[in-house]
Amino acid sequence: MGTKTSGEAGQRQGNAGPGRFGFVIHPLGMEDVVRFEPRAANKREALVSKVLEWTPAYEVSHITGIRSTLGATADGWFIGCPYFPNQFVTLTREAVYGKIIAACRIAEEQGAGIVGLGAFTSVVGDAGQTVSKNVGIAVTTGSSYTIATAIEGALEASRRMGSSPEDSHVAVIGATGSIGSTCAKMLSRMVGGLTLVAPNLSRLRRVAEAVLQYSKRVVSVTRDIKEALSRADIVISASSSTGGIIKASYLKPGSVVCDVALPHDVCREVAEIRPDVLVIEGGLVSVPGKVSFDFDFGYPPGIALACMSETMILALEKRYENYSMGRGIDIEKVLEISELARKHGFKLAGFRSFERPITDEEIAEKRERADSAKKKVMISYG
Ligand SMILES: NC(=O)c1ccc[n+]([C@@H]2O[C@H](COP(=O)([O-])OP(=O)(O)OC[C@H]3O[C@@H](n4cnc5c(N)ncnc54)[C@H](OP(=O)(O)O)[C@@H]3O)[C@@H](O)[C@H]2O)c1
Repeated sequence: MGTKTSGEAGQRQGNAGPGRFGFVIHPLGMEDVVRFEPRAANKREALVSKVLEWTPAYEVSHITGIRSTLGATADGWFIGCPYFPNQFVTLTREAVYGKIIAACRIAEEQGAGIVGLGAFTSVVGDAGQTVSKNVGIAVTTGSSYTIATAIEGALEASRRMGSSPEDSHVAVIGATGSIGSTCAKMLSRMVGGLTLVAPNLSRLRRVAEAVLQYSKRVVSVTRDIKEALSRADIVISASSSTGGIIKASYLKPGSVVCDVALPHDVCREVAEIRPDVLVIEGGLVSVPGKVSFDFDFGYPPGIALACMSETMILALEKRYENYSMGRGIDIEKVLEISELARKHGFKLAGFRSFERPITDEEIAEKRERADSAKKKVMISYG
C-alpha cells in the first residue's frame, strides 16, 4: 500500500462529522500493566512479559470529547500493542512489526483516517515507513509536535530557573534520532552552545554537519553522557534506551532536563538526591474540549502526550496523510503542527516532574538550592 493522501481516506470517511484517529500504545513497565490489571501486581516481570508476548493487539478504549476552539471535533481509539520496551528490541522484527501492523489495522477497521505510533512502536525499525506500507490509512509518529513542545518546555523551564537560554549550553541526548536531530538543528539558532550525544560517532558527525549547514554553528559531539551533562545548563533527552541513562551525579547544579524519552531517561534517584535540578516530563499537552480517554494511562484528566496530540490535530484537520515519518523530521512540519495546535487550542500543560505537577514554589526552592550549590562549587575552585 502506497502513501495515503487526505483525498483517499477523506472520501472513505466523508468530510462531515468528527475526525477519526487511532493511537497505538504499549506498557512502559510493570507499573503500567498493574494500573490496567491489578492482579498482575505480585507476578514476576518475566511471566508478565511472556503473557504480553502471547497477547494480540486489541482495542483499549474509545476516546471522545475532543473539541477544537474552532468547533471541529474528533474521536479515536487507543489500541494496545502489548510488549514491554525491551521486547520491541529483542523479539524478531516479524513478531514486532506483525503486532504493530495488526494494531494499526484495528484502527483502520474502526474507521480512523490516521493512526499515531506511540513510544517504542515508532522507534523500532524505520519509524513508521514499513508500517505505512502495510496499512490502508495514514500514519504518523507524532514526532513533529513532540519536538515543538520539548523545545518550548525546556526553554520556558530554564527561564523559570533564572537562566537565559541564549546564554545557556544545551546537551541533546539521542541527537542522531528523529526527535533529537531536529531538536538539535532548531536549538542551534536559539542557545549559547550545543553538545550532541549518542552512541554512534559517525552518525553524530553527520548531524553536526547538518546543524552547521542549517545555522552556521559548530557544535560538539560525544558518546560520553556524563561528560556532556557536566557542562549542560539545559538537557533535552530523547534516547531510545530502555531507560535510566541519566544518573544524579552527572547533572550540573541548576540544570534543567526535559525528559522526552519513554521510558524516561532520567533515573528516579534524581528526584530524591538532586533538589537543585529541575526535571520536567517532555511533551505534555492540554487537549481542548472535554476529552475522555476512558483509560488511565498515568496522566491527569485532559492531558495527552504531544505525539497523541499531533494525531488528534491531524484528525481535527482531516489531514489524512503520512506526517512525521522516518529519522529526518522537517522543521517546516514542526512549525506547521505548532501553528495548527495553536489554532485548535492545544497548549503546553503545566510542568510535571516524576509523575506529579511541580509548583512555582517548588521551582523557586530549586533555584535557591542551585544558587547555593553553585556558590559552593565556586568556593571549592577559588
Ligand atoms: N513524549 C512524547 O510525546 C514522545 C513522542 C514520541 C517519542 N517519544 C520517545 O522519545 C524517544 C526518542 O524517539 P525517536 O523517535 O527520536 O527515536 P529514534 O529515532 O530511534 O532515536 C533514538 C536516539 O537515541 C539514541 N540512543 C539509543 N540508545 C542510547 C543510549 N543508551 N544512550 C544514548 N543514546 C541512545 C539513538 O542513537 P543511534 O542513532 O546510535 O541509534 C538515537 O540517537 C523514545 O524514547 C520515544 O519513545 C516520546
